Amino acid sequence: MLKRFAMGWMALVCLAAWGPWAQAGSHGGTDRNDLSEKGPVILLVTFGTSVPRAQAAFDNIGKRVRAAFPDAPVRWAYTSSIIREKLAKAGQYLDAPEIALAKLMDESYKRVAVQSLHMIPGAEFHDLQVNAGAFRGMVDGFDRLLIGHPALSTAADLDKVVDAVFRIVPPERKADEAVVLMGHGTHHPANVYYEAMMYRLQQRDPLVFMGTVEGTPTLADVKTMLLERGVQKAYLMPFMSVAGDHALNDMAGDDPDSWKSVLTEAGIECVPVTKGLAEFDPFADIWVDHLRAVMARMQ
Ligand code: CO
Repeated sequence: MLKRFAMGWMALVCLAAWGPWAQAGSHGGTDRNDLSEKGPVILLVTFGTSVPRAQAAFDNIGKRVRAAFPDAPVRWAYTSSIIREKLAKAGQYLDAPEIALAKLMDESYKRVAVQSLHMIPGAEFHDLQVNAGAFRGMVDGFDRLLIGHPALSTAADLDKVVDAVFRIVPPERKADEAVVLMGHGTHHPANVYYEAMMYRLQQRDPLVFMGTVEGTPTLADVKTMLLERGVQKAYLMPFMSVAGDHALNDMAGDDPDSWKSVLTEAGIECVPVTKGLAEFDPFADIWVDHLRAVMARMQ
């Protein structure tokens, strides 16, 4: 009886000794408790851009994120491998979200707020959710990893985005002049957000239109509506976080198939505005608000 009691205690003592040893060993001898004190880190994820001037949009949103969360380190990741390779050739190295998360895990961060800087929850956001989500539940990994939504997500976001559009319309625009927003568009079901935008914009002002480069509504749809309403002058604005390749070439370029050329050909005077949405504070703050909702759940 006494012997069995003693053996039981010995087993317990062995387990207690093994526990901390195993933890320290898996961290290469560093102190786990100190590392878990590291505060939440922010990872901003965007498609990226290789247009130097377009960087202004990311600079602005980075500035507003740092002002809103002064204690949190901010990292960036670009989802586009083409953009990352292009920048790398010029000596600028950006991480893919998966690499950025692996580095944060290696640096023993325990809480990560991943904020999508996309416009819609389309293919890229979908992929981000899957791959960032795969970092949950790893041994010695993150205790908490949350992902903030793109600009357009809920019905309330739709209202906020439409409000923000009306706040950034060029002040010199007259009531009989049109505003044409150029979104990216996608084969992903989330393309419906652009159709929803068209509907909401039209409710507020029948001379503000939404079109897309690769989805619907198309440029042909917008052109038909502009001609039906007898529009003579239109401001063209990218409905994208940055004024990159699509804005400079597909929208404002001189090629015959650019939006400027097609609409000018149809007799409409075009004024391209080559500024990304994230350069405007009312828009930048939509993403910052989504990040705020995630950060509130980090404690
Ligand atoms: Co594109």
